[in-house]
Amino acid sequence: MLTTNISKQNPRNPLCPPRAPLCLSLLSPWIAHIVRYTFCGSTSMSIAVKQTPIDSFVTELRKLPDSAFDQVEQLRAFLQDTPVHPESLTSYLSWDRQHYTRNLIDKTPLYELIAICWEVGQASSVHNHKDQNCWMAVPIGRLLVENFHVVHQDFALGKSEIQATDTVEMNAAHPCAVDPLEPVHRVVNPREFNQRAVSLHVYSRPFDSCIVYSAEHGTCGEIQLHYTTQYGKPS
Ligand SMILES: [Fe+2]
Repeated sequence: MLTTNISKQNPRNPLCPPRAPLCLSLLSPWIAHIVRYTFCGSTSMSIAVKQTPIDSFVTELRKLPDSAFDQVEQLRAFLQDTPVHPESLTSYLSWDRQHYTRNLIDKTPLYELIAICWEVGQASSVHNHKDQNCWMAVPIGRLLVENFHVVHQDFALGKSEIQATDTVEMNAAHPCAVDPLEPVHRVVNPREFNQRAVSLHVYSRPFDSCIVYSAEHGTCGEIQLHYTTQYGKPS
C-alpha cells in the first residue's frame, strides 16, 4: 500500500479545495508511478496512479466489443482509466526534428493504435478524421488540441472557411475524444511547454488519408497518411 498525503491547502488559490489524503493500492500487473499534476494552474502535487504496460493496454483494447468504438464515451473512459506506462512505449517511439512521427502499435479491422512523437514546437495541420472516431491520450508530456468549426467546405474546389473555437490541454490525467459533430482540429506541442510529448491515438475505423485545412488561405485538400514505424520497426 502506498499512501501519499496531499492534504496541504493551496496557498495561492483559495478556490482550490483542501486536499484529502489518498491511499492507492499497488496491484500486479499494474505498475504504480508517481505522477505530478498541476492543480488550479498554480501548484503541483504528486500522487500514485496505476499505469499499464502498452502490451496489457492492447490486450484490454482488443477485448472491447465492436459497439464500444461506435460511440465516444466508452473508449474515452477506457483511456481515462488505463493510463499507459511511458517506459513501455520505448520501442515504439521515433523522433524527427523536422516533423512529428506516426508509429503504428496495433491494427485490426476495427481500430488502429498509433503513438505520435512531438518535438518541442511541432504541430499537426488542421485536419479531420474521415468521419471516423478518434481518441487521444498523452502518456508523456502535454499537448494542446485546437478545435475548429467548419463554416463551409467544397472539396471539389478545394475551398473552405474554418473558425477556431476552443483549445483543450491533454496530459497524463486528461485524455480526450474528437467530437464527431465538430471533428476538425489540430494538435500542438507549444514551445512554451518546453518538453517532448507522446500521444496515443485510437482511430476507429482505420483510415489512410484525411482532409487538411488552411484557415489562412481558405483551402482544403486530401493528403495520404504514412507510418514512420510499424510495430517498432521503420516503415
Ligand atoms: Fe487528429
